[in-house]
Amino acid sequence: MPLLADKTAIVTGGSSGIGRAIALKFAAKGANVVIADTVEQPIEGGDSTVELIHSAGGDAVYIRTDISDWSAVDALVGATVAQFGRLDVLVNNAAIYTSTNLIETTPEQWSRVISVNLTGFFCCSKRAVMQMLIQSPVNEVRGRIINISSQHGMVACPGDFPYSVSKGGIVQMTRQIAVDHADDLIVCNAIAPGKIITGKPGVANDPDALDYSRHRTPWPRLGTPNDVAGAALFLASDMASYVTGINLMVDGGWMAG
Ligand SMILES: NC(=O)c1ccc[n+]([C@@H]2O[C@H](COP(=O)([O-])OP(=O)(O)OC[C@H]3O[C@@H](n4cnc5c(N)ncnc54)[C@H](O)[C@@H]3O)[C@@H](O)[C@H]2O)c1
Repeated sequence: MPLLADKTAIVTGGSSGIGRAIALKFAAKGANVVIADTVEQPIEGGDSTVELIHSAGGDAVYIRTDISDWSAVDALVGATVAQFGRLDVLVNNAAIYTSTNLIETTPEQWSRVISVNLTGFFCCSKRAVMQMLIQSPVNEVRGRIINISSQHGMVACPGDFPYSVSKGGIVQMTRQIAVDHADDLIVCNAIAPGKIITGKPGVANDPDALDYSRHRTPWPRLGTPNDVAGAALFLASDMASYVTGINLMVDGGWMAG
């Protein structure tokens, strides 16, 4: 049996980058995958995630969703359950950044980052837990939440104030959900990627940013979306038993240095 046979997963921000790799990995391991993103076309180009999954014989659907909008998230989980019967795994992955320090950040930039990176994770987690509470456990677990945090939720992200603060909040949100809903048999973990090369726009892939990351990363290469997808597969599967409330670093040793 594939590791995620009969499981249904929502991956936010699954059209591009890390979320796309997680969605492809989950589908390859037998999961029905719902891609929740504001756009369907991948930032890095190529076929959409749903097209790739379908051509490999998997089951996936795209539902246009802005995770900061409660009614859109409510509809997303409703549509997922209507189509696939339950929700086993939520991957909270979609996030944005501004590359602005405290002084440079406008109130509008602050509000937008917090509304996606924290309120969006809150809306998706709350709605997913509402669903998980009314489904029966399978192998002791009613449902699993995986939050994509960052090494920059534990150490400062130079020059990116709202992003780093939001990622610190996500690490704590993970612990809070894990503790409050352990009795409900709902599992919640985070993954903290180090520097992962994706196609996202902005300064993330500037030569200086890459030099800084290479300097900080002991492993002799930077990360790939697939590195994060492997950790997500573990945390989504029954292999991860009695593991809840952790923040699993996939960072090439960044945080060990
Ligand atoms: N790439 C890295 O080096 C790195 C490092 C640490 C953590 N992370 C985290 O990994 C996650 C994915 O990063 P990435 O590099 O793949 O980013 P990306 O920009 O390549 O992809 C993000 C996806 O999220 C979608 N999205 C943005 N706002 C949304 C919204 N409001 N609602 C729904 N979807 C929305 C985008 O359309 C895009 O498809 C993020 O949480 C990011 O903070 C990335």
